[in-house]
Amino acid sequence: MSDAVAYECLKDDAGGIAVITIDNPPVNAAGHAVRDGLLKAAQRFAGDDTADVAVILGAGRTFIAGADIREFGKPMQPPGLPEVVDFIESVDKPIICAIHGTALGGGLETALACHYRVALNSARVGLPEVHLGLLPGAGGTQRLPRLIGVEAAVDMITSGRHVPAREALELGIVDAVDAGDSPREAGLTFARDLLQGNRHVRRTSTLSEKIDAVRGDTALFEEIRSAVKKKAKGQLSPVMCAEAVLAAVDLPFTEGVKRERELFMELMNSPQRDALIHVFFADREVAKIPELKTASPRALNQAAVIGGGTMGSGITVSMLFAGLPVTMIERDEESAARGRANVEKILDEGVKRGKFDQDHRNRLANELYSCSADIASISPADLVVEAAFEDMAVKQDLFRQIDQHAESGAVLASNTSYLNVNEIASVTGRPQDVLGLHFFSPAHIMKLLEIVVADKTQPDVVATGFALAKRLKKIGVRAGVCDGFIGNRILERYLTLASFMVEDGTSPYDIDKAVVNFGFPMGPNQMGDLAGLDIGMANRKRKKAEGWKGRYAADYMDRISDLGRYGQKTGRGFYIYEDGSRIGKPDPEVLEIIEKVRSEKGIVPKALDETSIMKRYMAAMINESARVVEEGIALRPLDVDITMIYGYGFPRWRGGPLKYADTIGVQSILDDIRSFESENPDFWQPAKLLVDLAERNETFDSLNKKAKS
Ligand code: 3HC
Repeated sequence: MSDAVAYECLKDDAGGIAVITIDNPPVNAAGHAVRDGLLKAAQRFAGDDTADVAVILGAGRTFIAGADIREFGKPMQPPGLPEVVDFIESVDKPIICAIHGTALGGGLETALACHYRVALNSARVGLPEVHLGLLPGAGGTQRLPRLIGVEAAVDMITSGRHVPAREALELGIVDAVDAGDSPREAGLTFARDLLQGNRHVRRTSTLSEKIDAVRGDTALFEEIRSAVKKKAKGQLSPVMCAEAVLAAVDLPFTEGVKRERELFMELMNSPQRDALIHVFFADREVAKIPELKTASPRALNQAAVIGGGTMGSGITVSMLFAGLPVTMIERDEESAARGRANVEKILDEGVKRGKFDQDHRNRLANELYSCSADIASISPADLVVEAAFEDMAVKQDLFRQIDQHAESGAVLASNTSYLNVNEIASVTGRPQDVLGLHFFSPAHIMKLLEIVVADKTQPDVVATGFALAKRLKKIGVRAGVCDGFIGNRILERYLTLASFMVEDGTSPYDIDKAVVNFGFPMGPNQMGDLAGLDIGMANRKRKKAEGWKGRYAADYMDRISDLGRYGQKTGRGFYIYEDGSRIGKPDPEVLEIIEKVRSEKGIVPKALDETSIMKRYMAAMINESARVVEEGIALRPLDVDITMIYGYGFPRWRGGPLKYADTIGVQSILDDIRSFESENPDFWQPAKLLVDLAERNETFDSLNKKAKS
């Protein structure tokens, strides 16, 4: 046997029960030791005359959470998981799987190959391979539809969702749900029942009723294919997952499994799989920051949010959702009432969408939330978040007042999206307690939280920022102080580039189309319309006042905004939004305005095609991302990737801008930048880090690995 899998045989009045326990912390991933141990344990059970039935279960907090993802991309050491599960199913004495925690991916596939399954009430099961750019590769696409039908299997496998035990029972994935808290007891109880009965072996691969029911239904197949493709938005794995499930209908089991393997290997070798697994680990790595090695978070029992506008109310609601009491502060009673109305509107939407019931909404609105026009009401809070107007003087004035009223030791945060947190902190007598918490709008939905560490911010204040992110179920990314931190700084750069392309002759609508085809949910001009073009204008004015650097190509945007066309909220921006629709139609007047600016400036328009647009767009994004890493604003390349994925809609399956740069090749991006230099020499200067990496023939990911070691 191996250390990862233990075998014991218990004697019961009705027969012998083999207990096979997988113990591979933290999540019992089915790495080589587990596969090898499980196969040997199943073989031993098959030949053990004293054992009549076997129970497979996981030690620790969970059943098997899937294949060991760290082994992907490396040569596979036999036995493979398909071989292991096929052997388990072939044994002619009953094998029961007792599930607790999560049975995911190869974990659920192991369970599906067992003859019976019992799950604890708290357990969840799923095949989340799709999120890793893969499909279930150990028979999951062939066995699951035989148990629950093709449509339910396609839904589960293409969404990767975790199904709770009760639903798993209703669907037919598990045979019983156990109310206790011990998988061992649940498994043994099921085994004893079986020993009293007919000891029948039921092999999932031999079931056919559910798939026979849809054989030959080509209309259904086409419907499934086209719905999955539409939802996948360029991602390969959902499409291939559906293909593999449909193969279960068309092919006998052994052939279906071969087809599954072919599709699995195709995905395993795809850059999308590499990118998505990069994101899986980056999601976890991003929370590992130096401050957490030495400091613990401060207590967080009561928050105050200053400002009840869009940001303030969104931040407040995200805290209420997490059970954190919030006092909202506004400047007068009238504004306080507006702030309350904003919060209640979001809560009411939650009820309408079925997220929670009216009682829960009332508890949040009346027991956890309060609103005041007196800033002294922040005094009980151990976290104060300022979410006022984006203006240094306004913020400094507020921080002077916060400093007067906040409890000593309270964490003081600004939700600024651009401004210098050192300057904000400097007006208080306690800059060590001040940090930036940059929420993204709508703050009760968006997952990203940039945690901005100023020069004097104490490590335990940073740790509190990360603890808050976790409590709010957000992804915290550590950022240094600069104009726009990580995300908005990079955004500003590629928006500037977009304005150059428009002024030089490319239609803003072509740019949006190219960016959407690349995998973003929207293009830069659609995003401007959504955010409000007045915001960009205010930002440009601020920068102009500070002295605009380089070429100014946003005159056409200024003219659109000057007409009061601020985007969706005014029904017109780059696009026209009719009858409150969120889908805009191109506006010929916008094209006229742009044309006029070009001719005034004597520009002979030259339109770029989709490939040329995206080469420039990505080169601008990657170049600034490299600078952000080079200057230490982001700790590692992966921090940039996570920021752009969760805050700016960068397609997850491309791994973030710096993973994408690695995929294309750092040298190739550098070559692009150099080839664009003649178009605009100020703008297209390569980041030093990009040049260094290209010279050393290294990737951005090599920096992630160095930071880890
Ligand atoms: N392989 C390797 N390491 C894994 C892993 C896996 N399948 N799943 C989790 N881990 C690691 C994490 O990286 C993390 O490591 P760290 O502490 O060094 O950062 C540690 O285990 C704990 O994980 P989490 O922090 O995510 O713990 P949670 O309790 O929050 O979540 C979980 C547990 C729900 C199991 C979550 O880890 C998860 O979703 N894991 C991935 C599940 C998955 O995608 N399985 C499918 C794998 S592919 C497959 O099975 C192919 C097959 O079809 C052939």
